[in-house]
Amino acid sequence: MTMTDLVTTTDDGPVRTIRMNRPDKKNALTMAMYDAMAEGIETAPAAGIRCILIGGAPTVFCAGNDIGDFLQAAMGGGLGAPILRFLYALARGETPLVAAVQGNAVGVGTTMLMHCDHVVASTDARFSTPFVSLGLVPEAASSLIAPRLMGHARAFSLLVMGKPLTAEGAKAAGFVNAIAAPDEVEAEAIKAAAEIAALPPQAVLASRRLMRGAADEIAARIDAEAVEFKERLKSAEAQAAFTAFMSRKR
Ligand code: COA
Repeated sequence: MTMTDLVTTTDDGPVRTIRMNRPDKKNALTMAMYDAMAEGIETAPAAGIRCILIGGAPTVFCAGNDIGDFLQAAMGGGLGAPILRFLYALARGETPLVAAVQGNAVGVGTTMLMHCDHVVASTDARFSTPFVSLGLVPEAASSLIAPRLMGHARAFSLLVMGKPLTAEGAKAAGFVNAIAAPDEVEAEAIKAAAEIAALPPQAVLASRRLMRGAADEIAARIDAEAVEFKERLKSAEAQAAFTAFMSRKR
């Protein structure tokens, strides 16, 4: 086990599990967490890892970027380097990615799945990208990948209108492979990861490379989105939305 407690990285033979572990904050991602996740992806090939499993907590996958951090970033003027490092790792990493999703996957919690090769969702999973209602724009190259995956109209509903998807909806949209009961999601995902890891590794890598197309194109979209995102972070609409979330009464 390595890195911060907020992300644990565990190797079991050829399968590495990167687990978001900040359940009290619904796995909202901090800069240290992005760094730890990026590191887990970047160092996988040299460690002989053939498949990476991304997981969360039993009732929550990931509540997206930490909104307190967004507020800081808005004042400081940009997306943190760790966020971009993680997004580039998703775009350029060659190791197959499997995800096990339970509960909420919000913002980057959903868009990271569009880079995964096999996603298992629990029946209670819920996917949403409320970027625009936060005054922001889609990230992680989702503005490129989502329309390709599900067509413009459905991508617009998800990314711009912020309409959530159920597990069934995400499967129909093309970024979830299988749906399982909450207590079976992890086992199903581990099974898929082991299956991928047992295939001839060079053939897997070559096939994946061919299927994904140019990583440069994906990275370039991440950059274009980041320019827009940085502007939006400073906007009055975004600042008001962040402050409202951080000071909401419950
Ligand atoms: N950033 C910072 N803190 C967050 C967070 C985020 N993205 N998501 C959740 N948290 C915190 C809450 O502020 C709360 O903290 P507190 O206990 O100190 O008050 C704690 O995590 C639990 O969240 P809560 O909202 O009570 O849980 P819930 O089960 O009722 O709802 C969510 C879960 C994910 C639906 C809800 O937390 C949410 O909508 N979060 C924001 C998601 C978001 O907009 N992310 C940005 C996407 S671009």
